[in-house]
Amino acid sequence: MDPNTVPSQSPANGEVVLDVQDIHVYYGQVHALKGVSLQIMRNEIVTLIGANGAGKSTTLSAISGLAKPRTGRIVYEGRDLSGVPAYDVVKLGLSQSPEGRRIFPRMSVKENLEMGAFSRSNKDLGADFERVYHLFPVLSERKSQPGGTLSGGEQQMLAMGRALMARPKLLMLDEPSMGLAPMFVEKIFDIIKEINSQGTTILLVEQNANVALEVSNRGYVIETGQVVLADKASELLKNPQVQEAYLGGA
Ligand SMILES: Nc1ncnc2c1ncn2[C@@H]1O[C@H](COP(=O)(O)OP(=O)(O)O)[C@@H](O)[C@H]1O
Ligand SMILES: [Mg+2]
Repeated sequence: MDPNTVPSQSPANGEVVLDVQDIHVYYGQVHALKGVSLQIMRNEIVTLIGANGAGKSTTLSAISGLAKPRTGRIVYEGRDLSGVPAYDVVKLGLSQSPEGRRIFPRMSVKENLEMGAFSRSNKDLGADFERVYHLFPVLSERKSQPGGTLSGGEQQMLAMGRALMARPKLLMLDEPSMGLAPMFVEKIFDIIKEINSQGTTILLVEQNANVALEVSNRGYVIETGQVVLADKASELLKNPQVQEAYLGGA
């Protein structure tokens, strides 16, 4: 796709929660993000779609404060996040379930969940455990077990539950369906919809583009560090170029 044909379409009216403005991110000599801009409105589910290496995870890292943009700005709830360290970004209400889950294998499920709340000043976690165990009953059954003994799908649930323990206003999920059996994929996306319906805005990264777009309001297509297409999810699902490149031409 030609980056010059990016439609200048802006999201529907609503409150902008996150405004990523033309960010450039480098890893040494690697120019990973070449001017990425995107917006997320309150209560949306937005998906970033793109091939392996396109820059999806780097975009999430930049928002989380883990990768610093060399130029450009990230504005969250009207506040410029430049120079805000990652642990303070979490306190502002942004939390991430990272690619590959990265749970703590020797800590119990409950302890893993507690780690998600480390940045919170309010340590009264009762209601949060209740919420997570309600969304993921299997975590309640396994709360005393080491995280490393869970199946892949259960570890994904643990990573999502841990991110929820921070009480995020904006939850970022990096490839939540990666490596999961189809039954788990459906379950994870049902839970993503439920979390969203409880009032949490969601930024989703997925290679499983079809399923992701089905639950999303809007999507951005990223190719080699640039946004090449931005549209309503329903339009992206119908877009022949997107179909061919990311949806298996179905
Ligand atoms: N830690 C790193 N060091 C060097 N290059 C990296 C690093 N992480 C990612 N990259 C490079 O940055 C680009 C974007 O990667 P990434 O954001 O992980 O893509 P995606 O999540 O879309 O697969 C790729 O070219 C990748 O090789
Ligand atoms: Mg990635």
